[in-house]
Amino acid sequence: MPSVLLLGAGSDIAGSLARKYASTGYEIQLAARKVSRCQPLKQDIGIRYNVSCSLHEFDAAKPETHAAFFESLPVRPDITVSIFGYLGEQKIAESDWAECERILQVNYTGAVSILNVAANAYAAQGHGTIVGISSVAGERGRQSNYFYGSAKAGFTAYLSGLRNRLYPLGVHVLTVKPGFVATKMTENMALPPLVTAQPDAVATAIFEAVRKKKDVLYVKWMWRWIMFMIKCIPEGVFKKMKL
Ligand SMILES: NC(=O)c1ccc[n+]([C@@H]2O[C@H](COP(=O)([O-])OP(=O)(O)OC[C@H]3O[C@@H](n4cnc5c(N)ncnc54)[C@H](OP(=O)(O)O)[C@@H]3O)[C@@H](O)[C@H]2O)c1
Repeated sequence: MPSVLLLGAGSDIAGSLARKYASTGYEIQLAARKVSRCQPLKQDIGIRYNVSCSLHEFDAAKPETHAAFFESLPVRPDITVSIFGYLGEQKIAESDWAECERILQVNYTGAVSILNVAANAYAAQGHGTIVGISSVAGERGRQSNYFYGSAKAGFTAYLSGLRNRLYPLGVHVLTVKPGFVATKMTENMALPPLVTAQPDAVATAIFEAVRKKKDVLYVKWMWRWIMFMIKCIPEGVFKKMKL
């Protein structure tokens, strides 16, 4: 039976992905900090889809635990999905290194650390799929979230390089740029409905992109063009904008 590992399983996107994969017969491995909070999701999956679902403690900010964590999984997952992320408080992070470091650590170094482990395991066996949820925020730095954005920019570049390294070895790497998604992370923001996706739509899009072995996924197609236009703005103009 194929299996999928969801890192950051408490997120709304992870919940939708878990149900999507379970509905097609995958075994589910849910990994999160305080993973007991995922017990209701585990029970729901067991009852609805009759597939095995296991819970695993995982903290992106503890890279020294990542190799042992991956080796301790009941079966090696066919697909590893890095979902966890931390938007953080940009204003606080400007003067508080602890907050700034947490943003960089969760969104970049923590993701690189665990995906290095999965990548080496998949490279050695000659198959496997890695999915990284990055962000359009990584395509151009803005004053409102440039710590988060720069970490996601690094993560996008990492995934691109990883794909380049692993493609000849038979390992698929998918970069996901969801655009706005209605989740806990954005619940206090007024998001424009036209360019905002629901977690179930993100899950379906990821499932299909993995099946089709796509390289980069923009969940709502408009985001590719929105970001193209934003990147075309000359820096001399961009720096004066309130973004
Ligand atoms: N929502 C959007 O508009 C949007 C747009 C673009 C990209 N994204 C990306 O999509 C992904 C999922 O986010 P979401 O919108 O579903 O937000 P979310 O519900 O806030 O999920 C983020 C998850 O990351 C986990 N996390 C934070 N720090 C962690 C750590 N040190 N170790 C392990 N897990 C940790 C959180 O777990 P705890 O419950 O333990 O804190 C939480 O479950 C993130 O990578 C985010 O950057 C979201």
